[in-house]
Amino acid sequence: MKVVTIIGARPQFIKAAPVSRELRKSFDEIIVHTGQHYDKNMSDIFFDELNIPKPDYHLNVGSSSHGKQTGEMLAAIEEVLVKEEPAYVLVYGDTNSTLAGALAASKMHIPVIHIEAGLRSFNKKMPEEVNRIMTDHVSEYLFCPTDTAIQNLKNENVTHNVFNVGDVMYDAVMYNQKLATDSKILEQHSLESKGYHLVTLHRAENTDFPEKMQNILDAFKQIDKTLVWPIHPRTKHKLEGYGINLEDVPNLKVIEPVGYLDMLRLESEAEKILTDSGGVQKEAYFLQIPCVTLREETEWIETVQNKGNILVGSDTKKILEAVNSEYTSAYEPAFGDGDSAKHLVDHLKK
Ligand code: UD1
Ligand code: UDP
Repeated sequence: MKVVTIIGARPQFIKAAPVSRELRKSFDEIIVHTGQHYDKNMSDIFFDELNIPKPDYHLNVGSSSHGKQTGEMLAAIEEVLVKEEPAYVLVYGDTNSTLAGALAASKMHIPVIHIEAGLRSFNKKMPEEVNRIMTDHVSEYLFCPTDTAIQNLKNENVTHNVFNVGDVMYDAVMYNQKLATDSKILEQHSLESKGYHLVTLHRAENTDFPEKMQNILDAFKQIDKTLVWPIHPRTKHKLEGYGINLEDVPNLKVIEPVGYLDMLRLESEAEKILTDSGGVQKEAYFLQIPCVTLREETEWIETVQNKGNILVGSDTKKILEAVNSEYTSAYEPAFGDGDSAKHLVDHLKK
């Protein structure tokens, strides 16, 4: 049976690695790369190091406004679906690539499989929240990573074919954690274990507002430790546009985005992780590194409930308080058993 998988952004490549490995044991998979992310270190690097099968179709959609980007993907995905006539279309998470894939398929009456279904921030100003709600409501199979996600869907009366299979990002960490110990990223940047905090920032809710970015950088300046920051291209471009120069923050070590294995090593050896990324919040929790989340709310509420994560938004004082306080998560296995990909494929085989 044929499954067309739609991916396009960095976290989707990482999620696809464990799922494709498992899916291909029982299904014929066709991979479509929308081209939402296209720099080598935002795309190709993950295919190479995680052994993800090369895309069968590359749509080369690239960057643009939400409507244009999603619309171009929608039209191009439809053409692929007409040609391939798959039994299912599989989408991950909450990006514009996810929404385009789900919409194209559902209009053609092809059942949609949504992996990482049911997440909610309850903030509809986030583009991701709109993408998630729309995708969940047109999907046929909804694979949730947590009980909270199941409950969110119940609250919206979505209960058919909804399963908690755990989080495929936990599978990815379990599979790659040991391989990541061979990474030389610390040595390359003369870093010592626990001698730095790790930063990632890319959410529109921060990067679209120069005053929020300035508040965050004001906090960074006052932190008495090196901050290693593999900078997302969106953030780099935005800061350039605002005329904000990161060289004004002397303890910042800004580096290019890194591959997944280097990232896992950077996360594992950091003292704390400061981020607005969904995936990085979870990885901090899996690796038991205290996390400071530069957002007002999180979909990954279990990381906060289990005391591994503090929400601080872009408030300078709150960021400093969280960075200077002591806490480590009392790890509770809230994200499955590391075999989520197998569980979800087992459901599809039934
Ligand atoms: C997208 C997702 C977000 C996800 C993130 C993962 C949407 C609405 N957002 O955000 O949910 O958390 O990916 O990283 O789908 N750019 C480059 N090179 C690239 C990719 C992007 O230079 O390879 C720059 C361009 O200036 C582009 C900007 O980044 O305009 C934003 O890219 P886009 O894919 O639209 O959104 P992200 O912010 O990456
Ligand atoms: N990541 C990476 N290199 C980097 C930054 C992040 O490999 O330089 C990985 C990170 O470990 C996680 C995923 O990318 O697995 C998270 O993606 P991102 O933060 O772009 O998106 P989000 O999860 O917020 O949607």
